[in-house]
Amino acid sequence: MQRSFRFTLFAALLGACGAPSSGDPSDEGSASQANEGLEAERTATEIGTAPPMATLESGFEAANLVVLEDLKGQDFGGLHNVYFLSEQVISGGEPHDQAALQQLADWGVKTVLSVDGKVPDQAAAADLGIRYVHVPIQYRGITTEEVNHIVKSFRELEGPFYVHCFHGKHRGPAAAALGRLVVDGISREQALAEMRQWCGTSGKYEGLYRTVAQAHLPSAEETAVMNWDFPAAHPMEGIRYAMVGMTRSFDYLKALAARDWQPDPEHPDIDALNEAQKLEDVFRQTMALEELAEEDEDFRAWMMESWEWSQKLSLALKNDDGEQAQASLKEIKALCSSCHAGYRNH
Ligand code: HEC
Repeated sequence: MQRSFRFTLFAALLGACGAPSSGDPSDEGSASQANEGLEAERTATEIGTAPPMATLESGFEAANLVVLEDLKGQDFGGLHNVYFLSEQVISGGEPHDQAALQQLADWGVKTVLSVDGKVPDQAAAADLGIRYVHVPIQYRGITTEEVNHIVKSFRELEGPFYVHCFHGKHRGPAAAALGRLVVDGISREQALAEMRQWCGTSGKYEGLYRTVAQAHLPSAEETAVMNWDFPAAHPMEGIRYAMVGMTRSFDYLKALAARDWQPDPEHPDIDALNEAQKLEDVFRQTMALEELAEEDEDFRAWMMESWEWSQKLSLALKNDDGEQAQASLKEIKALCSSCHAGYRNH
């Protein structure tokens, strides 16, 4: 029943926008008769080696060359921002619980690619016949080595693929776009348009757009000789590891702040004070990291200020001072953004 739902949904998507190519080789033949120029282009993209876009500095500028019909992200319980980009490539947020993984299994997903910093729960997925691959990437763009690993996964592992970061908005859609290029043979213009117009990837992350516009896509011969065995866990260290934990607590706090700090009946186990203390803890540990000494003064000052505001947040929540807690959270949010604008996004 779930399967037929998937196909109905996908058929509706195709009907509505006629966009994603099915990847069926029989489509290619008829297209070649219709237009020779198109055929030349398709033969090149068929195997997912679309050449880099040469003329555009930033892929973001090219993300409106193709205009797509609206497609909204969908939520399925513990799966958010889900986009069925094609039969083989689904983009979305982190699966939050076992039911979310079960949903992926019901859709027939065979491989989940996480590009988030958090080490995935590979054992829970394996119980459902799903393989996890972990290639954490950064907001400033995907490195050549990471592109190689992502492309190799798409070429050599079994689809359909579910590709996720944390929220499913920026890094995940960029990696999914590589999948669309490689698995479905779409054009760079189409892939960029899907990132921007469907998934809503922010223009702040130019590097992600540049990767999709420009990165060399290794051929099947090239990936075959790469020595890399699809690790399901690629643990982060230091500041980057701290950020992964920080994000989850911060997200819960934002959600609770929007409810005036009242517990969410759907997640009664999540407690604002507890999350604020975790946040405070991560900032404290980050301040103690040796690598912090190598960062410049602004960076350290922002980290210090964030820690101080997280202490004020805990204190306000302890004192039931909802207003002061809101103000503290706002300060923390501004500090996350300032530091990222200076040190993370480019
Ligand atoms: C003082 C600077 C600074 C502050 C404050 C800061 N960050 Fe970061 N953050 C960074 C840097 C630098 C990176 C990139 C690290 C890397 O990839 O090596 C990063 C990376 C991240 C990542 C990506 C992690 C991954 O999966 O690779 C997330 C998510 C994140 N930060 C969330 C937050 C949140 C939420 C806050 C506020 C509560 C915050 N950060 C506060 C500097 C900061």
